[in-house]
Amino acid sequence: MKTILKLIGGLLVLAVLGVVALVTTCALRWPRNYPDVPMPAITASTDPEVIARGKYLVHAVAHCTACHTPFADTLASKPGDVLSPKGGFEWKMGPLGTIRSANITPDPRTGIGNHSDGEIARAIRHGVKKNGNGALFMFGVGPMSDEDLTAVVSYLRTIPPVENAVPPSEFGLLGKILFQGPMAFFARPHTYEQVPYVAPGGRSLERGRYLAEGPAFCAGCHSEYEDDGEAIVFVGPKFAGNRTNPVPDELEPEYAFYPPNLTPDPQTGRMAGWNEQKFIERMRAGRVWPGSPMAWESYRNMTDEDLGSLWDYLSSLPPTVRNVGEPRRKPDEELDD
Ligand code: HEC
Ligand code: HEC
Repeated sequence: MKTILKLIGGLLVLAVLGVVALVTTCALRWPRNYPDVPMPAITASTDPEVIARGKYLVHAVAHCTACHTPFADTLASKPGDVLSPKGGFEWKMGPLGTIRSANITPDPRTGIGNHSDGEIARAIRHGVKKNGNGALFMFGVGPMSDEDLTAVVSYLRTIPPVENAVPPSEFGLLGKILFQGPMAFFARPHTYEQVPYVAPGGRSLERGRYLAEGPAFCAGCHSEYEDDGEAIVFVGPKFAGNRTNPVPDELEPEYAFYPPNLTPDPQTGRMAGWNEQKFIERMRAGRVWPGSPMAWESYRNMTDEDLGSLWDYLSSLPPTVRNVGEPRRKPDEELDD
């Protein structure tokens, strides 16, 4: 009996030591630094056409301002408004910490005026900051072609610098542990598979696919994904909704959002019975729920051609029967299949 108790006692001590070691390692290793992630070989252009394409990407398709502008400014904006990406969107994540987006205007002190083209491009394509640290939430930026990456960087060089010193993000001990464990993909460098590039200026299903799986990244939210320890991998048919990775309501965190099924399934597809006109009107109408993570204020600035291309692509997908439930609900509510 005594030996068994001793053995259990010994195991308990070992377990506690193990946890202490793990927690200490996590705390000491934070923030994780990835200086070896290569910089894309692109150079900013001064061609007005390239800059105009970058402007459209930043404020519409690739929705940079949805994260790089304070949320209140975004909510108060009107269609066509050109918001400054001066940073300062705050995600308050309780004991995990507070994440703040960077000022990406060309201010040399508080923005990206002293970043090289490659450093900006690396942040966009791989989620690594100038100082080599992983950039939280940049995994939400979809893959874009070298042409589009060049356009975004070229445009950012031309916008008015705004002096806005965003305080650094803060991380609680729990955040340091989770962002290196189950939530590691929040801050780990990533490389998404490139989607065949189709330039703007024409309507086609292929352009729709490029937008939806590339820079507009509808796929990133409206599909199931998993972290396989190295990368985010999509699971099951894309665009069939996301039931396992709900996004907290930005304004009422006791609610969560479940991106709906966008495939043309007549029962469970959110757009069942919609036609192109209804889709474009919906995309232009903006948010219904104030705390939704979807970049409604950016997407509504997309051209008719691009929204039409998106419709062509989404309505061509194989219908997938998948009930994702109410788009906004308390996270633990049970679902019937
Ligand atoms: C889902 C939200 C989100 C989206 C969308 C987003 N960003 Fe970010 N970005 C962030 C956050 C948050 C940070 C700061 C991360 C940190 O400090 O850990 C950041 C950091 C950056 C940085 C790094 C600054 C540095 O310190 O070197 C650059 C550059 C950047 N973003 C550019 C962009 C561009 C360009 C787009 C659009 C193509 C974009 N971001 C879209 C959230 C986002
Ligand atoms: C950051 C995550 C995110 C991204 C990216 C995203 N969505 Fe959504 N989407 C949501 C969520 C969450 C909802 C449900 C809440 C809402 O309607 O705002 C939603 C709802 C919708 C709806 C249903 C609206 C309704 O009236 O019921 C449509 C249609 C839609 N998204 C299309 C798109 C398209 C097209 C794209 C890409 C251009 C896209 N979404 C990108 C998260 C996202």
